[in-house]
Amino acid sequence: MNDLIGFFDSGVGGISVLHAARRLMPNEHFLFYGDNKNAPYGPRSLEEIRALSAAGIGKLLERGVKAVVIACNTATSAYAEIIRAERRDLPIVGMEPALKPAHFARHGGQVIVLATDTTLRLEKFERLMSLYGRDVIPVVGEGLVELVEGGKAASPEAEVRLAALLMPYMDRQIDAIVLGCTHYPFLRAPIQRLFPDAQLFDGLEGTAQRLKYLLDERDLRSDDSPGSVEYMSSGGDEAVALMKRLMESLD
Ligand code: DGL
Repeated sequence: MNDLIGFFDSGVGGISVLHAARRLMPNEHFLFYGDNKNAPYGPRSLEEIRALSAAGIGKLLERGVKAVVIACNTATSAYAEIIRAERRDLPIVGMEPALKPAHFARHGGQVIVLATDTTLRLEKFERLMSLYGRDVIPVVGEGLVELVEGGKAASPEAEVRLAALLMPYMDRQIDAIVLGCTHYPFLRAPIQRLFPDAQLFDGLEGTAQRLKYLLDERDLRSDDSPGSVEYMSSGGDEAVALMKRLMESLD
């Protein structure tokens, strides 16, 4: 089944998820759509995020994709249940902060969950917190998506912003940090520098494995070799060029 697999994100963050999926399933043909013009989604209202997600995922569906990955924690929290109810025929994979493995990696210290405001305040995260919320510090990653979207993931500005956000916790024992937004894996190195002893969890591999499982289950895997990636963006050529650069940066 050599049809496309659609990936959706508010911008370039979902490239981190796509990279993991591509490594796991190199024969697949991927179509990535980033709504860069409207990023960040985090500070928007629930209604706006739902409408933008419907429009973005609609672009993938128009191309007859065989599966959809909502490569965005924020859009997943706001919209996954709605699209799943509408398209029961289609495998739809969402994201959630990798709090469960981080919780089990604790050894007496605390877990920081870094995510957007929307992700942290919606029901999906509340459910996760009710199960694994002991010793968790939720932190809104204000300004981080903008830095990655601006091509500044590896910049002095990013270092300064992260230090400002995370400084209040630097005198504590932080065992794990959950990168609960798909833009944040691009900030992995400066985050790790601030907390050299913490284990970082991004959920990328788990999401790619879930996609593979659903495709296998329905006998939808591609037998083409090699696979391919097509990029689309509401933000034009510049955004697509950034997507390609970020993809290469993970190789
Ligand atoms: N990549 C999105 C996420 O995983 C970023 C959200 C945003 O655009 O604010 O949450």
